[in-house]
Amino acid sequence: MKIVIEHMEPKLWEWCLIEYEHISKIIGKNNVWFTNCSNKEVLKFGLVKKESVAKLNLPKSCLLDPKAEKELSPEDAEKFDYFIFGGILGNAPAEGRTQILSKELSCEKRSLGSKQMSTDTAVLVTKLVLDGKKLEEISFIDSPELKSGKNESIIMPYRYVSEKGKPVIYKKLMPLIKEEF
Ligand SMILES: C[S@@+](CC[C@H](N)C(=O)[O-])C[C@H]1O[C@@H](n2cnc3c(N)ncnc32)[C@H](O)[C@@H]1O
Repeated sequence: MKIVIEHMEPKLWEWCLIEYEHISKIIGKNNVWFTNCSNKEVLKFGLVKKESVAKLNLPKSCLLDPKAEKELSPEDAEKFDYFIFGGILGNAPAEGRTQILSKELSCEKRSLGSKQMSTDTAVLVTKLVLDGKKLEEISFIDSPELKSGKNESIIMPYRYVSEKGKPVIYKKLMPLIKEEF
């Protein structure tokens, strides 16, 4: 099973790079491809391909798309060899750039529910499902409030996996979250 991240941002923002590192840690460097990407920095985290995933015609592939009619299920681990994600930073309200990819690919699509997740969270949830958990068995936290200073907090308008009651957010992202919001 391979995780394919189609880089769709105009630049390799620091935020993208940190999410890509997290994805590589979650799934293992040997199981991740970054397509539409020529940046050498990404080589540390997986296989890098200049071509867009749409040009690769990958057999038995599935796009993770919040607008897909069918939800991902553990049985899909047998059905597909490649799971494709948009390497897109979250935005609120969601810009819907996954739809660009969806139109370019003729493969099947699966949703992880209608709530927007960051790409690294979507990969984590996909791994949990393919390892055998049903979506409804996973605990989530929506729009968590994070402490950003002594008397300040920020709300991240996305869905996260809950672990011991806390959202799973890669620790290297925390300084950027505090800076940007
Ligand atoms: C931050 S999301 C992109 C959402 C975005 N604002 C857009 O323009 O489509 C990055 C990627 O994670 C995956 N993803 C995020 N939430 C998802 C969900 N609820 N169901 C399926 N895939 C999801 C999709 O592959 C998506 O392209």
